[in-house]
Amino acid sequence: MHFFYYLHGKLHCEDVDLVRVAEKFGTPTYVYSAGTILDHLTRLNGALATLDHLICYAVKANSNRSILKLLADAGAGFDIVSGGELFRVLAAGGDPAKCTFAGVGKSPEEIEYALELGVYSFNIESESELEHIDRIAGAKNLRAPIALRANPDVDPHTHEYISTGSRENKFGVALGQLPAAYERAAEKRNIDIIGVQMHIGSQITEAAPFANAIKKLAPIVRELKSKYPIKFFSIGGGMGIIYRRALESGLGKWWHDHGGETSAFSIRDYADAIVPPLRELNLRILVEPGRFLVGNAGVLLARVSCIKKSGAKKFAIVDAGMNDLIRPALYHSYHEIVPVKETRSERESKIDIVGPVCESGDFFALDREMPELHEGDLLAIMSAGAYGFVMASNYNSRRLPSEVLVRGDKFALIRQRQTWEDLASGEVEASLL
Ligand code: LLP
Repeated sequence: MHFFYYLHGKLHCEDVDLVRVAEKFGTPTYVYSAGTILDHLTRLNGALATLDHLICYAVKANSNRSILKLLADAGAGFDIVSGGELFRVLAAGGDPAKCTFAGVGKSPEEIEYALELGVYSFNIESESELEHIDRIAGAKNLRAPIALRANPDVDPHTHEYISTGSRENKFGVALGQLPAAYERAAEKRNIDIIGVQMHIGSQITEAAPFANAIKKLAPIVRELKSKYPIKFFSIGGGMGIIYRRALESGLGKWWHDHGGETSAFSIRDYADAIVPPLRELNLRILVEPGRFLVGNAGVLLARVSCIKKSGAKKFAIVDAGMNDLIRPALYHSYHEIVPVKETRSERESKIDIVGPVCESGDFFALDREMPELHEGDLLAIMSAGAYGFVMASNYNSRRLPSEVLVRGDKFALIRQRQTWEDLASGEVEASLL
């Protein structure tokens, strides 16, 4: 469940009226609910309670330091994909010994940094990467704990850009090559084999692909466990959330526990499908959810700057753009959009909700049935807590938006809006001009 709901005609996040947030910090602004994130973490921990498990939050979904601190304080580990993410986790008080380092192209500098800090595991994607890590660890007189990422070749039924566990993708080692890759890893002098990892994709809305991948991998994991000191099996992230009718799925005021769920399939369905086969493996189980923890915990507030009619088409041009939230442009993804001040207008009409960026791909919704919109209206683009701010850019020299965290009846700025000066900071005038 999430804690966004209408109270006295205004959209609230926990106990905070979002009109107040927009008045104080302007728009576009991302607003996150700490209560929602912690609720999702608690529910997932509960569903996996019968397993020796660790939730490693996928930092790429939302890497604001306050979000990382919230999760670190609640005991989460972290799944990182760059030295920068590791740096952020550290700055937020996270424990490197609870970090798994994934990614197909770790640089020597990143490998050194992670080795020095003592990450829990490097998740390795290829034999050449194994060689790089072995060499760098040797030069530093350190040992590198590793897991190989298996590619189980299952179809997760999700958008092609975020499907990672099938044969065509660049990720992981094919199951047929896995035993040989482990043999090679065992021969390396500075490598400690400690785990097996997989991740089949993102925004997966059914339990079957997870269960199928585990079923395919389980006999191989058992075999590997008999040969090497394997301690953990990471099943990756990827659990999908609700994007359509996202607001309704929140089920009212946050302090009422309705027992609702915001994941597209319930946590129960997920746990029922994966826990029994995982329990039999008798290993520590890692999960790497990103979107599930933070996706429905965030909205992007934007204000309508102009209403434009062009032939039969009607556009609401808002002050947020594809540079602030690129998911609709990149994946044609659906985000529910609601007015922050509830309107009871009977008249709904179709409208494109677009940004000010000079591209036709700069849209948040096309031909969307919306209540009558007016200039100055405040809108909330729902389910924007994951892969929202982190994918924002300065395209069109637009400033990165601000971010606000809500907890109960309090809210605070957790990232200030960039200034125009920020846009050019770091640029130096070429001495050859
Ligand atoms: N573990 C690994 C190895 C991953 O590659 C990912 C996501 C995750 C965990 C977390 O997946 P999640 O639980 O959030 O689904 N920008 C895209 C999503 C890209 C996901 C990339 N990998 C989007 O906006 O939909």
